[in-house]
Amino acid sequence: MAEGLARLWPLSALLSWALAWSAWQAFGPDWPGGLALLAVSLACALLHRRPWRRLWVALGLPLGLLLSQAALPAGFWLVLAVALLALYPRRLWGDAPLFLTPRGALTDLGTHLQLPGAPRVLDAGCGSGAGLRALRAALPAAQLAGTEASWPLALWARWRCPWARVRRGDMWADSWRELDLLYLFQRPETMTRVLAKARTELPPGAWLLSLDFELPGIRPHAQWPSIGRHQLFLYRAEDLN
Ligand SMILES: C[S@@+](CC[C@H](N)C(=O)[O-])C[C@H]1O[C@@H](n2cnc3c(N)ncnc32)[C@H](O)[C@@H]1O
Repeated sequence: MAEGLARLWPLSALLSWALAWSAWQAFGPDWPGGLALLAVSLACALLHRRPWRRLWVALGLPLGLLLSQAALPAGFWLVLAVALLALYPRRLWGDAPLFLTPRGALTDLGTHLQLPGAPRVLDAGCGSGAGLRALRAALPAAQLAGTEASWPLALWARWRCPWARVRRGDMWADSWRELDLLYLFQRPETMTRVLAKARTELPPGAWLLSLDFELPGIRPHAQWPSIGRHQLFLYRAEDLN
């Protein structure tokens, strides 16, 4: 069930809200309706596995209804929709949304990997630059680059990481052939495509570091716990085939 929902996202959120709305209409508009709305929202939220999706499903409709009671100008909703679409463009709905590499998450990288000179490092899907900052703290001599699909996030990352080359664009269009280290914090479903691209493009001697998500069917060269419940997986390009 959870797997099926994961594939349906974000449609599963819309369906959940529609179901909660129907429950509200069926039992409402007073408190029994409110209780039915909350119960259905919570039940639908629990069908999702990831915590932030649960939160989004559970609170999306109640918050939307609360806001709709406030005397907000009609333009507010338009501005909100445009801002959300800019932050999380439609073409990314199948890829990972914004989550940040926690500060200090890569502190132990040096005990597992030594990269001499000024290694070329790319954060594919660099969001607002948190991963780039963590990489810089762990590899101060590295030449850092980031690619980010959402233009507000790319601008934000450029502003926060003036020492990095941040490009707004599609990470799948980047060449990984010149890299010494590719860093990713994406999502499980993306890792199959990452593996296929890394197999053809990452040069021998290069490394791939993934926060939280493993490459399917590949034994990591090293794996270690990071901050909180995060895990890091380090792969050598030669071991990917
Ligand atoms: C989980 S966040 C990680 C952000 C950053 N790497 C970090 O660790 O702090 C994933 C980011 O990848 C971006 N992203 C997803 N698919 C992408 C694509 N095809 N091209 C570029 N960026 C993408 C998302 O917009 C999001 O900002």
